[in-house]
Amino acid sequence: MVPTVEWKDGVVRLLDQSRLPEYVEFLDCRDYQTVAIAIRTLKVRGAPAIGVTAAMGIALGAQSVAATDYESFAKEVLVICDLLAATRPTAVNLFWAIERMKRLLASLRTQPIASIKATLLEESQVILEEDIALCKAMGQHGAKLIATGQTVLTHCNAGALATAGYGTALGVIRAAWDQGKKIQVIADETRPVLQGARLTAWELMQDKIPVTLITDNMAGSLMRQGKIQLCIVGADRIAANGDVANKIGTYSVAVLAKAHGIPFYVAAPYSTIDLKTQTGADIPIEQRNPSEVTTIHGSHLVAPKGVAVYNPAFDVTPADLITGIITERGVFKPADLAGEFQHNVANAT
Ligand code: MRU
Repeated sequence: MVPTVEWKDGVVRLLDQSRLPEYVEFLDCRDYQTVAIAIRTLKVRGAPAIGVTAAMGIALGAQSVAATDYESFAKEVLVICDLLAATRPTAVNLFWAIERMKRLLASLRTQPIASIKATLLEESQVILEEDIALCKAMGQHGAKLIATGQTVLTHCNAGALATAGYGTALGVIRAAWDQGKKIQVIADETRPVLQGARLTAWELMQDKIPVTLITDNMAGSLMRQGKIQLCIVGADRIAANGDVANKIGTYSVAVLAKAHGIPFYVAAPYSTIDLKTQTGADIPIEQRNPSEVTTIHGSHLVAPKGVAVYNPAFDVTPADLITGIITERGVFKPADLAGEFQHNVANAT
């Protein structure tokens, strides 16, 4: 797989996901403002990938701060952090990564500015590498849940493209495939932005993992016909009670899975678990531009001009619909997650 995000010769290089699958193009961000625009416009998307990109955006911005004393330098870096934090509200990995960079900055107060700049850059690389390692660990735990011959349904893209590499939900599928299990994947197209059709289908085809694309409204019928044995999705934020915010349509899949007695799993790293948010009702849901619904890819109109549109990018699946949450530490019942990840609160500011 081509890298989703990387530091390359002094720029943040992103695979432009808004152009996939038609064009495999890269966007070189030379300043943090371009990084922020890329996150807002979904050139890079997926909770862990957004977090990694924001950390690199901070490191990039910090390199060009001219201040020579700590107070002025830190003030400017915090402005960069604020701009990046305002890009998208739901994926908690964004805020997790920004807080981690801010904590590091505060701990470097006595260091020379040049060394602070270098340390911020190193930390963004550590976050990137850690994310890949977390995905691979999730893959190992989650692959045990998939038996050879099974068909797994996934929604949106929770793959290498949504992370620094390997993926969360698709990481589990990838690990099962790599273990030699003969599995099939059903990818929901995921209207309105079509992450399933454009990204998941593309990514799995790159790896030659058998994938069949369906429109979102076909999932129930396939479940009733016994064609799906397992559902695995990613997450943008998991509240303390185990409720999960993920791409709009995830809740419908979970309800359908429950109705058909099909296990429904969520795969996510610790950076997606937000114990400061008590329940799913407290998770801010991003509202996006109506044109995502009224057009295909921003150009071809598929609804009457001026029609009222409701376009939430995410929904919340209540904990009681979730069979288990696959993390880098193992698979947990949603209700047990808070106990296992208590240290997240201690590490948060
Ligand atoms: O709007 P997006 O494309 O950023 O939404 C992405 C999702 O909802 C993913 O399922 C989620 O971030 C998990 S990615 C490992």
